[in-house]
Amino acid sequence: MKLTLIGTGYVGLVTGACFAEVGHHVVCVDNDEAKIKLLQAGGLPIYEPGLAELVKKNTAAGRLSFTANTAEGVQKSDVIFIAVPTPPLPDGSVDLSFIERVARDTATAMTDYKIIVDKSTVPVKTGEKVAETIKRYCASRVDFDVVSNPEFLREGFAVSDLMKPDRIVIGTRSPRPVAVMKEIYAPFNAPMVVTDINSAELIKHASNSFLALKISYINALAAICENTGANVQEVAAGMGLDERIGRRFLNAGLGFGGSCFPKDLSAFIKIAEQVGYDFRLLKEVQRINTEQMDRFIKKIIDTLWVLKGKRIGVLGLAFKQNTDDVRMSPAIELCQRLQKEGAILRVHDPKAMDKARAILNDATWVDTLDDVAEGCDALVVATEWDEFKNLDLDRARKLLTHPIMFDGRNLFDRVEMERRGWIYKSVGR
Ligand code: UGA
Repeated sequence: MKLTLIGTGYVGLVTGACFAEVGHHVVCVDNDEAKIKLLQAGGLPIYEPGLAELVKKNTAAGRLSFTANTAEGVQKSDVIFIAVPTPPLPDGSVDLSFIERVARDTATAMTDYKIIVDKSTVPVKTGEKVAETIKRYCASRVDFDVVSNPEFLREGFAVSDLMKPDRIVIGTRSPRPVAVMKEIYAPFNAPMVVTDINSAELIKHASNSFLALKISYINALAAICENTGANVQEVAAGMGLDERIGRRFLNAGLGFGGSCFPKDLSAFIKIAEQVGYDFRLLKEVQRINTEQMDRFIKKIIDTLWVLKGKRIGVLGLAFKQNTDDVRMSPAIELCQRLQKEGAILRVHDPKAMDKARAILNDATWVDTLDDVAEGCDALVVATEWDEFKNLDLDRARKLLTHPIMFDGRNLFDRVEMERRGWIYKSVGR
């Protein structure tokens, strides 16, 4: 099938590449001409495992192309996916101006029946507004359908999440686009949930908020574990074996970050408020997440006492492993708060150093993991990168003034660390 993706961020680019991989002909559109030039020249604006190979292969096969011209993208396909950003506004609500712009541009360029599919995460009832906008701005008065098809990919695992999805959600008002949507997704062999548009939009916000709730729940349990001598990982393992609960997203740590959970929680709370429901449960999820960082910083201060002038090595800057994304990263917040206390930082991340440089000042950027500890008073693990488990602990001990580690992601074995003579503080253990 011929498909157009408008927006070449994480969702648009990875979805476009995966659609091409299963045999569709895909045009990716972005109004950022520099980004399109980079993609046309074989470069990638983001790091995502497996993406470079997919883009290269499908571009060479002629199934994937890039353009900065929205009208060209709209006219080349019957199905137009909107995958543009929906950033937060200061009051927690969502800025829908990019979606509105694309709806207008698509309407102006349409000359025959189109299916307009929203993939961006949007508040419930956005689809209705998109449909109204298209109707208003479509001079040729052609028929169209609007579909809500939210995306559930996780950064760092985006290609595998897309190629092997848990479910495909198709929200629509009319039966006409359902067969086409099913055909597009047939190669992915996933269960399909067909709903009305509002329910599809809600499924996305409800899913992300529930996952964030799960993380805050385990982080609250971590606080209780610390006060009682229990071990949160064992509690999570015991809970997780109950299929109704599941072990995933029960990793205690520094709290959740990234470009989705914090924004989607605020948006969902705001939407609930607008429709007359005070979503206090989700406000508590936010509060626990903020407190989780406070408690970790306190742990560092309780151990090192005065941070002013202390040298701290920080492992990890990305908001989680396998990505170079530092937006709303707990690791960056941690660094900034340590700096505010007067600490001097040596920092390292396998992929996110370039992007972190733009938002983190006055740190020493260390290229090699095993050199971070040099001359430091303590090490802090801030991101759950698997690579950090390979840290040469004996070398790190020698490079540190004292063998102290604050592990915000529970990467190391507590008993083993203590046996090796480390002062080792982790989360909920
Ligand atoms: C999240 C959802 O998991 C995706 O399903 C969704 O499609 C995406 O948002 C989106 O809305 O686009 P993502 O933000 O890429 O994906 O990352 P996650 O893997 O969900 O992690 C989010 C944060 O939670 C990270 O800071 C991570 O470190 C933290 N986390 C995750 C924990 O602290 N503990 C856990 O057990 C799991």
